[in-house]
Amino acid sequence: VEQHGQHRQPREQWTGQVGFILAAIGSAVGLGNIWRFPGVAYENGGGAFLIPYLVALITAGIPILFLDYAVGHRFRGSAPTAFRRLGGPRGRSLEALGWFQVAICFVISLYYTVVIAWALSYFVFSFDLRWGDDTAGFLVGDYLQASDPGFSLSFVPSVLIPLVLIWVAVIVVLALGVARGVQRVNVIFLPLLVVAFAALVVRALFLDGAAEGLNALFTPDFAALADPNVWIAAYSQIFFSLSIAFGIMITYASYRRRRSNLTTPGLVVAFANSSFEILAGIGVFATLGFFAFQQGVAVGELEGLTGVGLSFITFPAIVSQMPGGPIFGILFFGSLAMAGFTSLLSVLQVVSAGFQEKFGLSPRQAAVRVGVVAAVLSILLFSTTTGLLALDTVDNWANNIGIVLSAILASVFAFWVLRKGPELRYHLNSVSTFRVGGIWTVLAGILAPVILGYMLISRIVSLIV
Ligand code: PHE
Repeated sequence: VEQHGQHRQPREQWTGQVGFILAAIGSAVGLGNIWRFPGVAYENGGGAFLIPYLVALITAGIPILFLDYAVGHRFRGSAPTAFRRLGGPRGRSLEALGWFQVAICFVISLYYTVVIAWALSYFVFSFDLRWGDDTAGFLVGDYLQASDPGFSLSFVPSVLIPLVLIWVAVIVVLALGVARGVQRVNVIFLPLLVVAFAALVVRALFLDGAAEGLNALFTPDFAALADPNVWIAAYSQIFFSLSIAFGIMITYASYRRRRSNLTTPGLVVAFANSSFEILAGIGVFATLGFFAFQQGVAVGELEGLTGVGLSFITFPAIVSQMPGGPIFGILFFGSLAMAGFTSLLSVLQVVSAGFQEKFGLSPRQAAVRVGVVAAVLSILLFSTTTGLLALDTVDNWANNIGIVLSAILASVFAFWVLRKGPELRYHLNSVSTFRVGGIWTVLAGILAPVILGYMLISRIVSLIV
């Protein structure tokens, strides 16, 4: 019997395995794949980075993904509910861990929307290459109107309009529910994204200088493997990229039918995400190779190879110089917006579902309430000139410290404090075709928390020093 629910309705469900897989891939494939992975790989050993990356995927990414799936599916709830049930007599303190994940998702949604709004604007600017020759000056001065570093709370209309549009769209989709809203958007956007991005990669490969770009990305620097920071970068990339330990995969798995295969879809999601990441690396670096070729410099001399710099300064400049640039810009910013939107749905679904279950709200009530509060905060914080500067700091804390801590706690509680390892493993294996052995317990219960603990400590140390 449900403790909190006022009106009991059967739990929402994906319409089937494909819907679940597409939504999970939609969450995993996001800005991180397109603007984070290529630069991170390049800076951390190039081709050699694939080794720590794959090790991280197999030793921590997939095992923790399975842990998320097992908890969400076995205990049929969003993060707070699922952890409360997992905790049994200690449910209350474990529920807090779920709310911590809800809080991280809430914070992420506030600025993730902003980046998608920028992508939408730049999608439109691609038509007439509105950014001109000085793309950095355009971004900061004309578009964000943030060149004056003083404290100011004036709204930037060019950001405000797309931001409001995105928030309205998210609220509508979440209000429609898991199957009719979230799943449907993923079913449409994911194939579109793959087609658009594949077209972009093919075009990029035919640019002059593409080969040099790929050489820059893939030439292995094996000496980098001796550097612990390279390994930390690999584990962080995998965690962020797979959307694990945010409560997302717990929540998404909870909408999977009761007797469902969990591990095989998990493997599909993990490998689809990594494949998209490598595809993005190829597309981004082929394009950067062209840019370096145009300027007669080496790829290594370019600046702005990740994040906001890559997407909103470097890429617009490249698009301006390329024959057929507008089409390329449309494909790039369209991909960024679609990839971002499906990830955004997943973070907000975590928040919305948490409140639905706590207060017995319908999906629509929860989506509207959570969405409106988040939208107002996001608009107040990030569409004013001052707020934009805060984006980086918030991002760093939520992603780097927040999720690592939450993954450690989830693993330590599940395996050590509550000793639920065997039960969760049995649950994973009960209907799955790919069965996990004792090795899963070792990876998710021992190795992953040890590595993550090391990461957390070294991060905190580097923030203090
Ligand atoms: N996995 C997404 C990406 O690679 C990012 C993301 C992180 C999405 C956390 C939602 C929550 O960009």
